[in-house]
Parts: sequence; C-alpha cells; structure tokens
Amino acid sequence: MADAPEFHDRMLSLGLARVSEAAALASARLIGRGDEKKADQAAVNAMRNQLNKLDIKGTVVIGEGERDEAPMLYIGEEVGTGNGPEVDIALDPLEGTTLTAKDMPNALTVIAMGGRGSMLHAPDVYMDKLAIGPGFRRGVVTMDMSPAERVSALAAAKGCSTEDITVCVLERPRHEEMIAEIRTTGAAIRLITDGDVAGIIHCAEADKTGIDMYMGSGGAPEGVLAAAALKCMGGQMFGRLIFRNEDEKGRAKKAGITNFDRVYTRDDLVSGDVIFAATGVTDGSIVAGIKREPGFLTTETILMRSKTGSVRRMTYRNPVR
Ligand code: FBP
Repeated sequence: MADAPEFHDRMLSLGLARVSEAAALASARLIGRGDEKKADQAAVNAMRNQLNKLDIKGTVVIGEGERDEAPMLYIGEEVGTGNGPEVDIALDPLEGTTLTAKDMPNALTVIAMGGRGSMLHAPDVYMDKLAIGPGFRRGVVTMDMSPAERVSALAAAKGCSTEDITVCVLERPRHEEMIAEIRTTGAAIRLITDGDVAGIIHCAEADKTGIDMYMGSGGAPEGVLAAAALKCMGGQMFGRLIFRNEDEKGRAKKAGITNFDRVYTRDDLVSGDVIFAATGVTDGSIVAGIKREPGFLTTETILMRSKTGSVRRMTYRNPVR
C-alpha cells in the first residue's frame, strides 16, 4: 500500500479557515436567541459538513464528547474525504454556547489540526490552567507558585508594578479564593463568564487585549485548543488535569493517561506542529464577531501555523442566500 501523503499544512490551512467560518456563519442566526443547544447544533452540523469536504484522513481527538454521548464530531470520528494526509483534529464548533445565546463577547468557533499524535487526547475533565504571552523567560511563572506569587513574578519580569498586571479568570464560585488572593497584589482581574480559549489567547496579544495572564480551571479539551493557539502565537501555558471522581480518572485512563498529577507544558499539550483557525461569532478583542448587512454576513477569522508562527486575519463577506 502506498504511504499516506504528508501533512502539508500550508494550503490545508486555508481550507481549515473555511471550516471555522462555516460553523460561525451557521450560528449567526442564533446569536442572542437564548437557545444554546440550537446554536451549538447549527455550528456542529456546519463544521462537520465542511470538514468532510477537505482532502484529509482526519480523526477527531478533541471533539463534542465520547461516541455514546455525541452523535457528531465525537472523539474518534473519522472526517474528511479520506484522500489525503492522516491528521488529528481538535475542535470546538462553538466555544461559548452561552455567550452566543446571550449575545455576549468572545464566542468563537475553533479548530486545530496536526499530524497523528500531535495533540494530547485530553479527557473531558477540568484542567487547572496558567498562561502568559510571549517574550518571557521559560518558567517565569509556574503551577507551583501561588496566585499572588505568579502576579509578582510576572510584574518583576515585565518591570512593572503588580498593579499594572491584569489577570483573566473565569467567574466561578470555585475561583473565589484565588480571586481574593490575586486582589491582595493590587492586580486587576478581567472576569469572564465563559470562554477560556479566548481568555488564554488574549495573553498572546497583551498590548491589544490588556490581559497579561490567565489562571484557573476550565475544560481540559479547551486547554488543548488554547495551547494550539499559543504554540502558533507564542506564549507559555501549563495545565494539570483535575479529577473529581473515579469515573473521570477512568476517562483519562481510556485516553492513555496514567500520571494523574502531571503538569503539562504548552508543548506537552500540543507536541507537533499544528494549524489553528478561529472565527468570531460575537465581538471580541481577538477577532470581530459576525456583522450583518442586508444580503451579507461578514466574519473575521484568525488563521495561524505553528511551524512558521504566521498569523493571518481574514475577513469574509458572504452573500446570504
Ligand atoms: P461551552 O462553550 O461548552 O459552553 O463551554 C464554555 C466554557 O466556558 C469553556 O470555555 C470553559 O473551559 C468551560 O466552559 C468551563 O466549564 P464550567 O462552566 O463548568 O466552569
């Protein structure tokens, strides 16, 4: 049998942008309509449909859930035409379903693609996350530091006061203690109600977004997607899986994870080169949300390659039929 074609990410990345655009366009009519499930379903259908047009032999490694709980884009689902390179795919057709349903900022469609084994097969459990942008020495902040120590270390590395640091945190009761500790440093906190993939990506463009550091727990699959983005844009990220019960440990074991305490670096989460695309659904500081005008919907997509660190922003004015 002939060898599978190599993963030539350069041209494929343009196809990936179309996949993420399609998911965003499909959810456009559901922005602000109060129906998270419907918005998610529309994005899932469109993403799957478009993905299946790509000449790849793709496997979903981060998807909508386990095969028995997600009818589409489940973990292990084969996607693409089957004629092309063997690739692994991590996706979240609608990152921020509630943000979309409530028309709140930073809802995105997200997809990353790399060669086989390029991304951690993260189980659907929580992950404790820490991220900063590019330009700092390795390990300037670590998972072992307390939240206040991280703020002080980053301020020292930036040569500024702790009061000049802004930390992004998901607003959840489980983060109350951490938030209180960060506040003792005088740092500002950007609280977000959802969407930690965008929260982490914000660190990579701190000058533009005003966010220097991300910390706190959220979904592990979202952690891998955020790591894929930072691998392209630069920046450090750490993640540790959190297990609340034996069932969650079982999910990890199924995914081949045996060391439950491991701290994963960005490059452990995403070990091979990847391409990454995200399209804005609602407005955000990374990409603009969908704009409507009579007869057209316009999207903005960020498309990146870790091999070169290239970042492309694409506007697509799509005639509505
Ligand atoms: P959905 O898009 O699936 O609603 O996820 C949004 C999100 O906010 C993620 O960005 C985040 O990682 C996770 O949910 C946090 O989980 P929880 O809401 O349980 O704290």
